Amino acid sequence: MSARLWEEVDAYIVERLLPADPVLEEVLAASAAEGLPAISVSAAQGQMLAIFARMVGARRILEIGTLGGYSTIFLARALPEDGVVVTLEADPHHAEVARANFARAGIAGKVDLRVARAIETLPQLEAEGAGPFDLVFIDADKPSNPDYLHWALRLSRPGTLIVCDNVVRDGRVIDAQSTDASVVGVRRTYDFAGVEPRLTATAVQTVGAKGYDGFALLLVE
Ligand code: SAH
Ligand code: DHB
Ligand code: MG
Repeated sequence: MSARLWEEVDAYIVERLLPADPVLEEVLAASAAEGLPAISVSAAQGQMLAIFARMVGARRILEIGTLGGYSTIFLARALPEDGVVVTLEADPHHAEVARANFARAGIAGKVDLRVARAIETLPQLEAEGAGPFDLVFIDADKPSNPDYLHWALRLSRPGTLIVCDNVVRDGRVIDAQSTDASVVGVRRTYDFAGVEPRLTATAVQTVGAKGYDGFALLLVE
């Protein structure tokens, strides 16, 4: 099995199941033209996030890690008219590109973009009473994942779905000796999720246009 086959199958899945979406193509092109890294979720994964949001009837979504707003757009489109995605981004240039992309996609009115390190914004959201969120998507700096999971729980209610991206990373997650801060952060997230009684947790491995990786799915009790 090759990465190329995964990509071809991903293209087949998107062609058969997802509506053609010139706006999302423009969003990716604009992000690339502005020098953003090509690390957003794939189209098939974005659609999966949108389906999760609809399944939980999400009205309030928290996203940690905006980049150019590609995943944000899938999430925002899954919301009812009065719904909101609060999305946290540390890099001002990424945020600026995302803002333009939200306008492009016509969803700016459903997005509350906060530009600061997430670890600063999260306590602020709690102080504002911004929670509870119905869905949380954790997809920023991986070493901070345990902290983000801690805050996600504080900003949750029973029934909240927490989705965490990049929890497999080419299988590197099982390397207990790893000194890579991202791998260590992801492993600590598993350790936390596995013993936290408020979480019913699993992780699903994925292959496709984004290589070999996976999502953790954490349901708050
Ligand atoms: N969710 C996006 C991809 C996010 S990539 C999508 O799928 O389309 C990860 C993003 O997290 C990057 O834009 C990076 O700048 C941002 N980031 C990294 N460290 C951060 C931090 N401490 N606080 C907030 N955002 C951070
Ligand atoms: C990276 C980050 C991501 O969120 C992702 O989905 C893929 C790669 C990265 O930092 O390399
Ligand atoms: Mg990611």
